[in-house]
Amino acid sequence: MSKIEKIAQEIENFTIQSEEELEQFRLHFLSKKSELQTLLGEIKNIAPEERKEYGILVNTLKKKASEKFEEGKVKMASLSHSPISSIDVTRTAKGVELGGLHPISIVMQEVCSIFESIGFSVVDGPEIDDDWHIFSALNFGEEHPARDMQDTFFIATKPDIALRTHTSSLQVRVMEKEKPPIRVICPGRVYRNEAITSRAHCMFHQVEGLYIAENVSFAEMKQTLFYFAQKMFGEQTKIRLRPSYFPFTEPSAEMDVSCNICNGKGCQLCKNSGWVEIMGCGMVDPNVLENCNIDSNKYKGYAFGLGIERMTQVKYKTNDIRLFFENDVRFIQQFQSLK
Ligand code: DAH
Repeated sequence: MSKIEKIAQEIENFTIQSEEELEQFRLHFLSKKSELQTLLGEIKNIAPEERKEYGILVNTLKKKASEKFEEGKVKMASLSHSPISSIDVTRTAKGVELGGLHPISIVMQEVCSIFESIGFSVVDGPEIDDDWHIFSALNFGEEHPARDMQDTFFIATKPDIALRTHTSSLQVRVMEKEKPPIRVICPGRVYRNEAITSRAHCMFHQVEGLYIAENVSFAEMKQTLFYFAQKMFGEQTKIRLRPSYFPFTEPSAEMDVSCNICNGKGCQLCKNSGWVEIMGCGMVDPNVLENCNIDSNKYKGYAFGLGIERMTQVKYKTNDIRLFFENDVRFIQQFQSLK
């Protein structure tokens, strides 16, 4: 057998199953010191008339070796990327970290589901709204000082448009669209131009409630809100209503729940009073009904607006509103197990 045939045979029989074998193949057949290279070098010793044929034979051989080497390379690359080879079955499994609801969302959903269980339906609406829905329809007079009660983020180029300062704007949107009886709650984000402290933030959450029908009474409102407070904070919870003023309700009240952080003894959250204010409420002013084309002689109603952050603080005994929006996982994570 000639040397060329012998090498051809060797190339044919060489199996490439690993990176090491691939390297061996390269050294053996393609490196400068390989036998194949030596054969090429010997061309000058071949008789001139045989040189051409010799050259063709050796070059074909070299091509074969190169092809086999390239195939081997592709094979090795695909092996190292195959999922089978990259999975280490002996390795300890990593735990899957599950996300969860933010404490504010937990409380919003809980508020909604308590009211849904007694016949209220949930309605959503725009966070950017116009003057009519935020103020005018709600009986805030053009020059009324009540308008200044809220430090509002207006849109500079369109002073008629603002980030809603309360979810009460949704009362108007619902009454404009629907005929009584109306029984809705409207959860959402609201904005005020406030300095951020442990007790206040420029962005927070409210849930608005509205019930419009014939013969709705203040007593009915009080009992509904008492039922809600007990469901939300526990059977031991007490409520109290204090007279207040809102342009869109008459009479108006503020509702406090007994502070369950200190059980009435006095703490930072209840400012040592034993009570925490969680909402404003009252009987819908007839002007508001008329602004929304509802006959105020026939229909009456009550409305309330709950502050979600305050309620979350009472429920989970936290004392700084800023913690809700810093998104420190160490803080937020704790609420998953408390749900
Ligand atoms: N919109 C009021 C606020 O943001 C809260 C409120 C008070 C809502 C009385 C009401 C209500 O529906 O009847 O301070």
